[in-house]
Amino acid sequence: MHAVTLNRVRLVAMLVALTWGWGCRPPAEAPTAVEPTETSAAAPEEEDDSTPFFGPREIVVLEELAPLMTNVFGRKALSLDGDWTYIVDQLQIGDASPLLRGGVGEDEVAKPGELLEYAFDPARTLRVPGDWNSQDPSLFWYRGVVWYRTEFEYQLPEGKRAFLYFGGGNFAKDVYLNGKLIARHRGGFTPFNSDVTEYLEPGLNRLVVKVNSLSEPTDVPTEYNDWLNYGGLTREVLLVEVPRTFVREYSVQLSPERDAIEGWVQLDGPDAGQGATLRIEELGIEEPLDTDDDGRANFRVPARPELWAPGSPTRYAVSIESGEDRVGEPIGFRSIETRGEDILLNGEPVFLRGISTHEESVLHPGRAYGPEDAAAIIGLVEELNGNYLRLAHYPHNEHMVRAADEAGVLLWVEMPVYHNISFSNEDTLAQAKRQYSEMITRDRNRAAVIFWSLANETPGTRARNRFLDALAAHVRAEDDTRLITAALIGFEGMEEVGKYIGTQLAAEKSIIADLLTSDPDPVTIVIDDPLGETVDVIGYNEYLGWYMAPFIAAAMREQGLEVDEAEVRERMLASMSLFRIATKFDKPLIISEFGAGARQGRRGGAVAIWSEDYQARVYASQLEFLEKSESIRGISPWILKDFRAPYRLNVPVQDYWNRKGLVSETGKKKLAFGVLSEHYAERAAR
Ligand code: GCU
Repeated sequence: MHAVTLNRVRLVAMLVALTWGWGCRPPAEAPTAVEPTETSAAAPEEEDDSTPFFGPREIVVLEELAPLMTNVFGRKALSLDGDWTYIVDQLQIGDASPLLRGGVGEDEVAKPGELLEYAFDPARTLRVPGDWNSQDPSLFWYRGVVWYRTEFEYQLPEGKRAFLYFGGGNFAKDVYLNGKLIARHRGGFTPFNSDVTEYLEPGLNRLVVKVNSLSEPTDVPTEYNDWLNYGGLTREVLLVEVPRTFVREYSVQLSPERDAIEGWVQLDGPDAGQGATLRIEELGIEEPLDTDDDGRANFRVPARPELWAPGSPTRYAVSIESGEDRVGEPIGFRSIETRGEDILLNGEPVFLRGISTHEESVLHPGRAYGPEDAAAIIGLVEELNGNYLRLAHYPHNEHMVRAADEAGVLLWVEMPVYHNISFSNEDTLAQAKRQYSEMITRDRNRAAVIFWSLANETPGTRARNRFLDALAAHVRAEDDTRLITAALIGFEGMEEVGKYIGTQLAAEKSIIADLLTSDPDPVTIVIDDPLGETVDVIGYNEYLGWYMAPFIAAAMREQGLEVDEAEVRERMLASMSLFRIATKFDKPLIISEFGAGARQGRRGGAVAIWSEDYQARVYASQLEFLEKSESIRGISPWILKDFRAPYRLNVPVQDYWNRKGLVSETGKKKLAFGVLSEHYAERAAR
């Protein structure tokens, strides 16, 4: 009896251990009160309650990410887009629980009689590219882990290599091919690729991707953003086939003097020294390039191409050939520089008639991801008579950048260094630099991209300055052919604005005050953020007419002046044309944001918050104010379309949308759309 019971006890103990993840170490004896022995007399070991029953297993990534290839759409590739099956893993146990054997990534299938507590249901799919929030209502607010799975037939030809290329997925991705963890990437908005040549199987291949949409405080960006943190494989997934030595990356640009085509080519593979040929037939260019042993060749070919510009976005068919490989695309040639407060496009001053946009589609709910989405946004910019688009606050998909390049729309592109990130953290800086390099590799040959923006609305601390100085240096080292900028925010001049309005209102309300005060001088807001030294062009976000009034009204009431916010708003809008904005730097100034919220279809009086009328009035006052501020060389009001934003809790009006769009979430235009497009038409005609 005794012997059997012991084994049964052991068995039960083992099962308990398995279930609770203590591993297979059976307890010595049936638990009885433990008498303190010599050893246990020592200070009891610190009980670590934080250790979960089971934590993420250290699953080794078998491969470093491969250097990113440029122009993936110009290469031979198998698209893996489509309906992928998925598993929602809220507790993030998919690669942790011992009940799941090697984890979901290993993609096992239980044999008859076997217990395996994960499996993908072919009937449950998410479209890739796409976010999960707008596809599965139960995932609308979901932030966490989702496992994606697809399979594909493929036979790698002799002498070829294959790369898995992801256009982007939010936020952290672990990529398993045929059960092996072959790639890991952090960053929601930039591409990455991995050489999978030796992991492919002839015939059926199984691809599983763990996507975690949560980011850490040390990530770029953090969790706290005024946009919905859409999760998923939000961009294309491709299996790219290239020769053993291929043209991985190249830069083909117009020289600053606009008298030559210059740049470089980077080969990748065992025959990196095999050389290459730059071909631009329409310019009569067929330039042999001697690559060094590392596969690099620089070039400068005298040429005077027709210049790319809004209204005439001329592009040339450019190709680079090397061995069996040939990659080509249309490239426009233009120069961009500053001279004092001017921005010179092709040597001529240009004014940027712009609008800001998030990467949300105007055609369907959720993230934009395809050429149709991009074309729809470009269409709205053209309806605004605009020539410029600020892609906020992170790199948008490649289709958007290429659509602007084709249409002749100038672009501001940005890294999501947004508000408060961990500026003193070296890993955070390294991540920002890596993401920036990924973006530059993807977009460096787009004439449309004129600005690399470092950040949006970051606090003026020394840590921030150090961080952004380092990031600026990194970006300049990667690509010194474009202008560096950032969207600053400050309360410069806001006190003066408050005093100005306060004095006027006080004079109106009391004779004494009227007698004692003279008309205040119009206010000039002077931007003096130290980051102005680092950037080439200063971007500035200001919300006169929207966010400032409540602060000013509160400050006045503290001073004992009985005013309500509506009076301050009224006074603010009436006085704005007297204000000016400038910087202390002899550099171009762009108003990267101004705006006001309005619920489409809501009408109301002059200071009726959330009405289209009030939004239109703010636009009219802003445009007059900015028109008179001489240093301004461009504007990109906030924002083209209402967008999803968990920050926005005024449910009856905002309903978790930021309502500062000029069009509603369904694309319906608001009054202010007309105000801006008329202004731009008039400006364009000058
Ligand atoms: C900021 C910020 C945006 C935000 C906007 C707003 O300036 O840059 O991300 O959405 O203001 O408050 O609407």
